[in-house]
Amino acid sequence: MDIHIRPAVEENDFAAMQKIFREVIRNGDSYVFYADTPEEDAREYWFGQGVRSFVAEDSSGILGMYKLIQNQRDRGSHVANASFMIHQKHRARGLGTLLGKHSLAEAKKSGFLAMQFNFVISANIPAVRLWEKLGFFIAGTLPKAFRHEKLGLTDVYVMYRLLDDI
Ligand SMILES: CC(C)(COP(=O)(O)OP(=O)(O)OC[C@H]1O[C@@H](n2cnc3c(N)ncnc32)[C@H](O)[C@@H]1OP(=O)(O)O)[C@@H](O)C(=O)NCCC(=O)NCCS
Repeated sequence: MDIHIRPAVEENDFAAMQKIFREVIRNGDSYVFYADTPEEDAREYWFGQGVRSFVAEDSSGILGMYKLIQNQRDRGSHVANASFMIHQKHRARGLGTLLGKHSLAEAKKSGFLAMQFNFVISANIPAVRLWEKLGFFIAGTLPKAFRHEKLGLTDVYVMYRLLDDI
């Protein structure tokens, strides 16, 4: 795989990133956003204050992206949070693993001590498996916290890992 991961540049990358964002949220199975989420909300999500976004690209363009942010302010600011989206066409080829590892290294480099995912849909098997593979554990289950497009009320996991070994 000839994939390059780099910081996202709003002016150049947002259009391509928005396409992936739209495609992901349309399915209603992995993120809380409704399909008609306004463009400005998407922009804020990927480029708002305190957000650092990264894209994975090859010669054909942007294939996926993630964002890194503090999970909490002040006394919780040593814990990172990240969100990932890979274009449907490019999934199950190792890109998620690549971006996940990149985010852990980037979080460690930035001084974070841990990473927390607040809202992993329990039915999102590729995501749960990926995060477990990358050392996260399920810290807790939020019963029926997500209204899944197809499955209805669905449990959500909080997943967590320290960054000591990164
Ligand atoms: C979750 C997501 C980021 C994974 O990205 P990906 O590029 O498909 O992941 P990879 O190819 O690196 O696969 C990672 C692991 O996921 C698991 N996996 C991937 N696709 C799978 C599938 N269809 N069924 C079961 N497990 C799967 C495997 O354990 C795989 O590890 P392995 O290849 O070592 O066995 C991607 O599917 C995605 O963007 N989904 C939509 C948005 C989303 O759910 N984001 C995460 C929210 S928490």
